[in-house]
This record gives sequence, structure tokens and C-alpha cells, in this order.
Amino acid sequence: MPSRRHVLALLAATPFAASCAGNLPDPAAAWRDPSAGETDPRRHALAHAILAPNPHNRQPWLIDLVGEDELVLHADLERLLPATDPYDRQIILGCGAFLELLDLAARANGRHAEITLWPEGEPQPRLDQRAVAHVRLIAEATAKDALFDHILARRTNREPFSDRAVDEATLTAIANDALAQTPSEGASGPPAPLRIDWTRSPDQLAALRALAWNGFDTECATPAAYQESVDLMRIGRAEIARHRDGIALEGPMIEFARTVGLLNHRVLADTSNRFTRDGINAWRPLAEGAPAYVWMASLENTRAAQIAAGRAYARLNLAATARGLAMHPWSQTLQEYPEMAELYAEAERLAGARQGETVQMLARVGYGETIRPAPRRGLSEHIRA
Ligand SMILES: Cc1cc2nc3c(=O)[nH]c(=O)nc-3n(C[C@H](O)[C@H](O)[C@H](O)COP(=O)(O)O)c2cc1C
Repeated sequence: MPSRRHVLALLAATPFAASCAGNLPDPAAAWRDPSAGETDPRRHALAHAILAPNPHNRQPWLIDLVGEDELVLHADLERLLPATDPYDRQIILGCGAFLELLDLAARANGRHAEITLWPEGEPQPRLDQRAVAHVRLIAEATAKDALFDHILARRTNREPFSDRAVDEATLTAIANDALAQTPSEGASGPPAPLRIDWTRSPDQLAALRALAWNGFDTECATPAAYQESVDLMRIGRAEIARHRDGIALEGPMIEFARTVGLLNHRVLADTSNRFTRDGINAWRPLAEGAPAYVWMASLENTRAAQIAAGRAYARLNLAATARGLAMHPWSQTLQEYPEMAELYAEAERLAGARQGETVQMLARVGYGETIRPAPRRGLSEHIRA
């Protein structure tokens, strides 16, 4: 029988090891010296932007290079998450995170990124063919933002965190860094303000821990939502290297279980399978042992506001990295499908959402071990023209 530790390894979305599988591409290659050999400032910025956090590691970014100094970002409509993200809100947050890293990298390279959001209007209620952003890089004397230096070390850390408390001053500092962004303007002007907050009392922490776990458990019990994740699980090194996206399941036990037929997508999809059930339950102590939760709420939920939230989340994650703090989003209760409606309302209540506010992100924070980077498909997969 597999040990608890092994079961945890089985279903935890573990980061990919730096090693390659046979002749397949190296999933960690994009993280090593991203701008090496890039002479076009746009490619320099984009090579950093593709390292942005993004839901289920879909990397839904398509780029057209236009003229000498412009580019257009489109969302890849083949890479949406319709079951868990029916209005594409989270995918757009991932586009915001991409634009933030692009902006940080441009500034570090002596360019101002002039970002115009939704130049053809905001798509509602779903994304469509219209561009997410038009970007022009303008050479000028720019000051490097210190967060740029943490792009390569930033991670989503799904490991257990130590019980070391996260102090108020650290949380205040990362929230301030996150909100000190240059706002990009949407078709209707600058986005409405964003608020970042965190757990302040033992009662609130207990309630958020329970909420995070209940959301995870509810997603696993909702067939369409759970299946969407299962379809994106990459089992073992070869599958991870082939796709370089999604949820990577990796490690010696995974390879063994896959080889002997104990682990495949059919087994993962069957939540009545004891092995799968144990794997799901292994996430519970992560939610319930979190030393703190942090969240982000915006006054509006326009597409421009979602981009702003994504930009701020990328900065929050980078600012945490700068202070040795690990971060792990728990988005299940913020997802807009009927089976989650009750927990969604509970998340709004616990986050103190005011009238009209939308909770855009919820994440556990704490101190964890250093982990390897998640796969990336590489810049050439994103540039379509
Ligand atoms: C909008 C958004 C929602 C996310 N939700 C979750 C989540 O619920 N659970 C999780 O483990 N990671 C979540 N993530 C993190 C992504 O899975 C992660 O960014 C991606 O796998 C790439 O890994 P990296 O951040 O280490 O580069 C989310 C990220 C974003 C931007």
C-alpha cells in the first residue's frame, strides 16, 4: 500500500524536475536565462512574460508582432477552462499577470510599455477573437522595478508550509508592493480600485481554512469541474515534456504507478477509487495547515479590472518571493458555477466583500521549501505572427 507521503505526491500538482525525458523538450528551459540572445526588445519582454502565473498552467497567450515596436496579445481560445471558469475571469487574470511581467521586463530593459487594453472593446460574457491588449515599447530612461529580479524564482508552491507565522508587517509590505503597479488603461479608462487583505483573527483563519478545503472537495465532487482538471493532468516525465503545460504529476512513485498501470487518466477520473480518494484527501492538511490566507477584491468586475487584478497578483507573488514567502492560490470557491454558489457566497462573506466587490484571488501564504519551476512551452509556441 502506498504511504501517505506517496499518495500526497501522487495527486499533488508537483513541479517539474529540470531533467529531460529522452529527446523531448526540456519543460524548464524557458526559466533559464530567458532573454539570452534576444535582440528584439519585444522578444526580451515576452520571454519573461511567459513565466507568469496562470490558471492550470494553460499559458493561454498568443502574440502578433506588429511593425518595429508593437505587439498584440490575444487569449488562446483553445486554452480556456469553460467548466471552472465559465466567464473566463481567471484566464483574463492570467493575461494580466503576463502583461505585468512584460512591463517589468520592458522597464528593466530601458523601455516603457504603453499598454492599451481591449482596443476593440471588452468581450462579454466570454472571451472572443478580439485582442486583449495592444502594447508599444518606447525607448526611454526607465527605473527597474525591484520585483523584476524575482521573476525566475517565483513559484506557485503546493508543498506543505511550516507552522511559522507570517507577520503583519510582511503582509502589509507585499500588499503595498502589489498595488504599486502602473495601471494599464482599458477602453473605458483606468480600472476601479483593488483591495488586498489577509486573515486577522484565529476565527477568520479557521473559517478560511475550512472554506478552502470545502471548495476543493466540492470541485472534486462536481464531475465537469473535476474532469477539466483531470484532463490537464500530465502523468510522468514524458507526458509533462510533451505538453509542457497543465498540472504536472511527477516523481519516482508517479513513474512507477504509471508504468505498472496503477495510475492513468481513468484512475484519476474515478473519485471512488481509493487511491484517487486518498490523493484528494491529502490536500486537506495543506488547506487546514495554512498559516495565513491573503485575498484580493476589486470594486468592479470589468475585463480591465480583471487584468488589473492579474497584474497585482503577479506582483504579490513576486513580492512574497522577495521576502522568502511561499504562495499558493485556492481558487475553487471563487469559481462561478452553480455547484459552488454557496461556498462562493461564503468566500465573499469571509473576505468582507462590500456591495459590488468581486473577490478575484484567494491564496494561502507561508514559509515552504524551495521548489522547481512549473513547465513552460517556450516563446516560439506563443508567437503566431
Ligand atoms: C487566476 C489564477 C488562479 C489560480 N488558481 C489556482 C488554484 O486554485 N490552485 C492552484 O494550485 N494553483 C492555482 N493557480 C496557480 C497556477 O496553477 C500556476 O500559476 C501555474 O500552474 C503555473 O505555475 P507557476 O505559478 O509556478 O509558474 C492560479 C493562478 C492564477 C493566475
